[in-house]
Amino acid sequence: ADPGWSETTDVLVVGSGVAGLTAALHLREQGLHVTVVTKVNIDDGSTRWAQGGIAAVLDPLDTPAAHANDTEIAGVGLCDPEAVRVLVEEGPARVRELIRLGAAFDRNADGSLMLTREGGHRADRIVHAGGDATGAEVQRALHEAVHRDPWIRLVEHALVLDLLRGADGRACGLTLHVLGEGSEDGVGAILARAVVLATGGMGQIYSSTTNPSVSTGDGVALALRAGAEVTDVEFVQFHPTSFVSAGVTSVQRPLISEALRGEGAHLVDESGTRFMVGQHELAELAPRDVVAKGIHRVLLRTGADHVYLDARHLGGSFLEQRFPTIMASTRAAGVDPATELIPVAPAAHYASGGVRTDLHGRTTIPGLYACGEVACTGVHGANRLASNSLLEGLVFAKRIADDIARELPPQDEPAPGSLLGAKSGWVVDPDVRAELQRAMTRGAGVLRSAASLEDTAGELTRLGARRDTPRNATWEATNLLTVATVLVAAARTRRETRGCHWREDHPVAEDEWRGHLVHALDHQARL
Ligand code: SIN
Repeated sequence: ADPGWSETTDVLVVGSGVAGLTAALHLREQGLHVTVVTKVNIDDGSTRWAQGGIAAVLDPLDTPAAHANDTEIAGVGLCDPEAVRVLVEEGPARVRELIRLGAAFDRNADGSLMLTREGGHRADRIVHAGGDATGAEVQRALHEAVHRDPWIRLVEHALVLDLLRGADGRACGLTLHVLGEGSEDGVGAILARAVVLATGGMGQIYSSTTNPSVSTGDGVALALRAGAEVTDVEFVQFHPTSFVSAGVTSVQRPLISEALRGEGAHLVDESGTRFMVGQHELAELAPRDVVAKGIHRVLLRTGADHVYLDARHLGGSFLEQRFPTIMASTRAAGVDPATELIPVAPAAHYASGGVRTDLHGRTTIPGLYACGEVACTGVHGANRLASNSLLEGLVFAKRIADDIARELPPQDEPAPGSLLGAKSGWVVDPDVRAELQRAMTRGAGVLRSAASLEDTAGELTRLGARRDTPRNATWEATNLLTVATVLVAAARTRRETRGCHWREDHPVAEDEWRGHLVHALDHQARL
């Protein structure tokens, strides 16, 4: 099917969080015209929800080697050491650039950056803003900088559909649906000399997640349809402490930042016992997979849907000044952390895997790049270290912009037949969304087994048979189903427990599995 309308740009960036907007700004430094498309409004992605901060070596007593070491310990043998080196060595310069751009991080009385600690870090290296509103400040600064530049065109309310490729297979644009645009059904095309996917995560495949409703795996699904390779998708990180309250009915749950534990809050069970003490030398500040498992074990034992975080000893005035976002969301639901325990439970938080890239953000399709949560650069391995994700977006966005500027070919025409998916592909009934989320949570969530994964795979096949006509909700449901299916296939294949992939029938990490599973549309391979 031909698109009803089309336009051209030098570089098309899909997504408007830290990765997409940073890429756009660096591409502009290279003198390129950039179009940023985003599914709802510019600020609606995950970035603005980030609380804890950005990890970077900014203390003279800290070292990139120490940051790399903590990152690799959290990643349980699957981090790419070169990618980690790039992340920790280039990170501090990118954070300083963000400060020059206008991001205001919290500072000590002497004007130095206030640094805190989170799970898995053995040094204070997390910069934060507005106490616990770091993502909102990063998003604000980037949004304003993008807004100031007339050569960045922003297209909101645009759901991307399929990659367009030239006769030589190189990416040369995308089809997309923009609400209210163009032809009858609004499907159009943006042609570009390079395409950057920065679409964020896929937390919405689960019934509870810290991710906003837009995080439906669109970039990974698009990349798979185009034939790109994805990797490490079985490693979904569950944040140990999302807020549990009868008042929170959305799939997205308020995050209770790890920084609260970094400042001294304790996890306790129903009898007030600090159950993480003795499980790991860092207790509540162990890497996330360890803490999420510790909590899950308590939930299995008690049958409850939450444990508690005790922050009362930190004092009301400190909590209000340091954690205004958390205080507002918990108090709105009737819980006052200054005087009461906070009910918390793990929720899907971050996709450590994604579209496979090299150190320049190049995917396996020439001209197609991936950046941020949608990408798998190799820095997270089997479990991402806290506050390394905004950092990854900043670091690899710059590398992508540099790479694009180095070798940008002229605009290619889409090859005949490359305009396939927008109207003709099969799409799934949007009503499957809640069933899919429940099936994934039950069988492919924090705890997995061959039997639970088999059940989930069967359920996904059944849901996939429920078709509908193409429109935003059906495309989104199709993307959810696509990424869930690949995730379950990977989780079934990986018969071991490693990082955030926890198989109750294979409870330890096996040396033979110290490698990656790579999926493309029609094959699975081991690297
Ligand atoms: C948090 O504040 O706990 C989240 C930070 C992160 O996910 O890196």
